[in-house]
Amino acid sequence: MQMQEEIINKIKTLKKQRNAVILVHNYQKQEVQEIADFMGDSLELSRKAASTNADVIVFCGVHFMAETASILSPDKKVLLPDLSSGCPMADMITKEQLIKFKTENLGATVVTYINSTAEVKAETDICCTSSNAINVVKSVKNDKIIFCPDRNLGSYVQKKLNKKLILWNGYCPTHMRMLPEYVIEQKKKHPNALFLVHPECQPATVELADEVLSTTGILNYVEKSDKDEFIIGTENEITFMLQRKYPNKKFYSVTDLAVCPNMKKNSLEKVLDVLQEMKNEIKVQEEIARKAIVPIQRMLEVK
Ligand code: 13P
Ligand code: SF4
Repeated sequence: MQMQEEIINKIKTLKKQRNAVILVHNYQKQEVQEIADFMGDSLELSRKAASTNADVIVFCGVHFMAETASILSPDKKVLLPDLSSGCPMADMITKEQLIKFKTENLGATVVTYINSTAEVKAETDICCTSSNAINVVKSVKNDKIIFCPDRNLGSYVQKKLNKKLILWNGYCPTHMRMLPEYVIEQKKKHPNALFLVHPECQPATVELADEVLSTTGILNYVEKSDKDEFIIGTENEITFMLQRKYPNKKFYSVTDLAVCPNMKKNSLEKVLDVLQEMKNEIKVQEEIARKAIVPIQRMLEVK
């Protein structure tokens, strides 16, 4: 085993040699966060991937994020340190299933959460992320809207806009574990804490929230707030990150089970390995990428 410092130094040297940038999702382990050139939520990382002038993007996140980066920057090499880091929600709808769903709901506009495969995006009208879903759906001038794959994010948008959506039955297994009864228990223990939740949680959990936000939205909210205690309704890395950043404030996870195992597969060793070997490139078939970029770009244009 190499020492952590030694690995970090090697990563830094190789990064310069290869003109690489390391993009890191907010759920990545602390050691990976420390080598980030840029950290953020899905929307921020997509914008960064589209605008960087690096030749290589090392994407420390899950598969669909690297795919989106590759679609937006087809001339760059996008490397995913662990090829098995998928998102189970993204795999809950296939291209064939979406095509069938569209024929069952003729005339509907398809809004697809960014947590989806490139093939599904290729069959989509406009994408969204957790931070812009409300504005994206608002921008659609059609009363008939399919929303996939996340039924929980869809339910939240539906409720906020008082607009019926045709929901696909997908969900995030990690966020589904944040049961409302756990939140109620935490609220009893910490009556002064604000509850900040990610919209991937089930409606009964979201119902209990003071604020519903993306991962970066949660981090920014805490930064601006003068409150001292928060219950965090998303993957537990956010709780740990906040506790390190604000040692004088208190942060509580909804449950110890709120862990995304795929986001945790990444490590410094794997980042170094892909930079050394230039392996694990994520490439989207040209025909699919040509179609999938359209709904992603439409999303990026929504204010
Ligand atoms: P954010 O875009 O809010 O970071 O969410 C991504 C994700 O996968 C949450 O589970
Ligand atoms: Fe997918 Fe859920 Fe993990 Fe986010 S937390 S990457 S939605 S499995």
